[in-house]
Amino acid sequence: MISHLPLVRTTSPSRLAEGAAVPSVWCVACDAWSRLSAAAMMVRQQVFALEQAWPAGELQDAQDAQALHVVLLSRVAEPVACARLAPVAFGCWMISHVAVASAHRGQGAGAVLMQVLLDRAQGMGLQSVSLHAQGHAVGFYTGLGFRAVGEPSPVRGVLHQPMVWSAQVEPMQG
Ligand code: COA
Repeated sequence: MISHLPLVRTTSPSRLAEGAAVPSVWCVACDAWSRLSAAAMMVRQQVFALEQAWPAGELQDAQDAQALHVVLLSRVAEPVACARLAPVAFGCWMISHVAVASAHRGQGAGAVLMQVLLDRAQGMGLQSVSLHAQGHAVGFYTGLGFRAVGEPSPVRGVLHQPMVWSAQVEPMQG
């Protein structure tokens, strides 16, 4: 149970206004690793360690401390989903460690995670955000506006497709 996080309540990606008075399905916390590590690690443990057999030493890394993290909590403050947006080079940011606990999939949680991070990316003035999609998830990211770039390559024995999302550029007035 997580009880100390700054929360935004939401029902869907289009209802993310901070403090919106809507019946909540999840609470969204978006913060630094120092605040969200316990919650995020609970989800990573369930999804990446137990389901996908990642080595324990790869569940977290040095980029976590640099990254912006998002965690979704259930009605009973149980962490059910997480993702991060991390700087990987000057001006280049990458989304990774996207995970929704199996019992909560197919209900829009993954889309909420991604929309929160893409909204933050846009707010930070980023022109693009990249990720490496596991083969089965390419359709999920395509639906969120990512496009495949380059060839897939294996990570931990699973093919990953490089993908990129580009910010909408407002047309110049006049
Ligand atoms: N392939 C194609 N489309 C998918 C999909 C998939 N694997 N998973 C979800 N979608 C679609 C949904 O149908 C939905 O479409 P709609 O808006 O037209 O209804 C949309 O994507 C949003 O789905 P959502 O319910 O938000 O996804 P989710 O909460 O089930 O999360 C994952 C999707 C991939 C994050 C989740 O399955 C997961 O955590 N998997 C295990 C960990 C993992 O593989 N992470 C990705 C690492 S790259």
